Amino acid sequence: MAKDFSLMEDSNRSSNPTIHDVSDPSRRTILRGGLGALAGSFFAPLSAIGGAAAITGCATGSMASGPLIGFKSVGVSTADTITVPEGYTYQVIAPWGDPVGMSGENHAFKDDASNSAAHQETQLGMNHDGIHYFAQEGSKSGLLAMNHEYVDHGLLFTDGMATWTAEKVRKSQAAHGVSIIEVEDKAGKWNVVNPSPWGRRITANTRTEMSGPAMGHALLKTASDPAGRVVLGTLNNCASGITPWGTYLTSEENFINYFSGGDAMSEHEKRWGLKKGGGGYRWHEHDARFDAVKNPNEPNRFGWIVEIDPYNPSSTPMKRSAMGRGAHEGATVAVTKDNRAVVYMGEDARFEYIYKFVSRDAIKPGGAAANASLLDHGTLYVAKFNADGKGQWIALTHGQGPLTAANGFNDQGDVLIKARQASDLLGATKMDRPEWIEVDKEGWVYATLTNNSNRGGDKQPAVDAANPRANNTQGNIIRWKEDGDFGARSFAWNHFIMAGDPSLERKEAKGSIKGDMFSCPDGLWVDGRGILWIQCDMSTSAMGKGDLKNFGNNMMLAADTKTGEVRRFLVGPAGCEITGATSTPDGKTMFINVQHPGEPANEISDPKNPRTVSNWPEKKANGRPRSATVVIRKVDGGVVGT
Ligand code: FEO
Ligand code: CA
Ligand code: CA
Repeated sequence: MAKDFSLMEDSNRSSNPTIHDVSDPSRRTILRGGLGALAGSFFAPLSAIGGAAAITGCATGSMASGPLIGFKSVGVSTADTITVPEGYTYQVIAPWGDPVGMSGENHAFKDDASNSAAHQETQLGMNHDGIHYFAQEGSKSGLLAMNHEYVDHGLLFTDGMATWTAEKVRKSQAAHGVSIIEVEDKAGKWNVVNPSPWGRRITANTRTEMSGPAMGHALLKTASDPAGRVVLGTLNNCASGITPWGTYLTSEENFINYFSGGDAMSEHEKRWGLKKGGGGYRWHEHDARFDAVKNPNEPNRFGWIVEIDPYNPSSTPMKRSAMGRGAHEGATVAVTKDNRAVVYMGEDARFEYIYKFVSRDAIKPGGAAANASLLDHGTLYVAKFNADGKGQWIALTHGQGPLTAANGFNDQGDVLIKARQASDLLGATKMDRPEWIEVDKEGWVYATLTNNSNRGGDKQPAVDAANPRANNTQGNIIRWKEDGDFGARSFAWNHFIMAGDPSLERKEAKGSIKGDMFSCPDGLWVDGRGILWIQCDMSTSAMGKGDLKNFGNNMMLAADTKTGEVRRFLVGPAGCEITGATSTPDGKTMFINVQHPGEPANEISDPKNPRTVSNWPEKKANGRPRSATVVIRKVDGGVVGT
């Protein structure tokens, strides 16, 4: 039914060539139900967007009953493959480089990495991360929105970084951001639908807009955007969340590494980790936007939670400044009894903080359009974990406490842009790298503290009750329950699981796991039945050695939060991280992402022979490993996890 839409080779870098740039009304006839019908129908019925468990208090309907976890666990593995339990099956879809929304030769992946930057702008990005299934026809077809966190330049180019050009920078930028793809279950196999009017790439050059209190702030103004309102692109998109009104929240994590600083660094730049010469991406050599000496405010325009409406392919991604700036790992929404949105966010960096945002207004019926400014008004809080098992949420509100002009905060925009400095002054608890946060059916909020080898070291913060391990190589999962409702100012907390290998001598490396051992928890997802899924990110440089010697490849496990039992469900291919999880509303199809198989790919010495420790998923001789989405189902057609 479709023709190919040839590449727009001279396309404006601020807009990707998608179906939406091409006027062809006949294409719109394949819209499933129509944009208006979809966009207008999302309030509360989260099962309709396949995300019932991500937001508390939502029933999931037709899930199977019985023991929460029914599968037989799998062992640790170092094999370059996916291992799933007996009775389960998987398929791989949507690898890096496959076309998004288009078909035809111009959009096909070339295994020698010879695709141009313009090709990459129409292909899935690299290093898949957070993901969510937005239903179109229930569990039969939908949209997958997914993040592409960063790139391995050794894999992205035919000659790695041996040469460095503006075209390479543009391709690297195009492999970042977010993809939205249409998927359908066709006779028992999931397919990516191409061409599709829903297919969309959002890259490091896509037009986005600032919103909320920091919009137009002096610290956001640049020569190319003197109003401080329009930002090109989103990058280092890590964990993700969804809203009850049917939108996708993507987080900008280690954005500072893309910028290059100079000799004279301001206190603000130092606090945010700007490095002289940059963090290795070398974009600044051909794109002055990333040279923070020339454009000192450009880094302030990153580190935000970005809201995207996947059901409206021509919508503008919005950077929601009211939720503060950080090396954000995720944005998980809970709903108060009076229907306000509460967004939990971690900042994955050593000794940074956990935040929550509470909206001023209640969520309105009417989907994304009716809630277009809901995340622009509210209060941002930072967490303080006390030694007695209680904790406080401290408001980041201009004029309160130390957040005054005398301390460099002239307005709320200053507080939000300098959220780290504000949290320092407020005495919040410095955590061991908070990554994903999830909320279970009982109202417990879980956060992974992935690891922190600097804890307790020379000149580093000492251990505390919430971060009790010196040289925390193993990580832990902390949890809290709000006093009354999600909008509360206080909470009670405990350690759900201290991860670690029970056979190790060093007491800080032994865990408290009931069941299968794991280390370095990162991704979290509560499914429709209440299983807490845990995904691991042991660093590949530490893997197989020292405290991590017995773990094998990164893995995914299921935890019963009532009993605390943990069972290993899946082990990924060599050198990968497992991250991101979602399912169809019926719970019978799970989608997860495999990120950076074959890491460390940047150490490839011969790009023509790129095989490192992995050539997953295609297993071609000398084939490049490719991040991809893995679709998991039960052979008997049952609910995943049973
Ligand atoms: Fe992108 Fe903190 O993992
Ligand atoms: Ca992560
Ligand atoms: Ca991680």
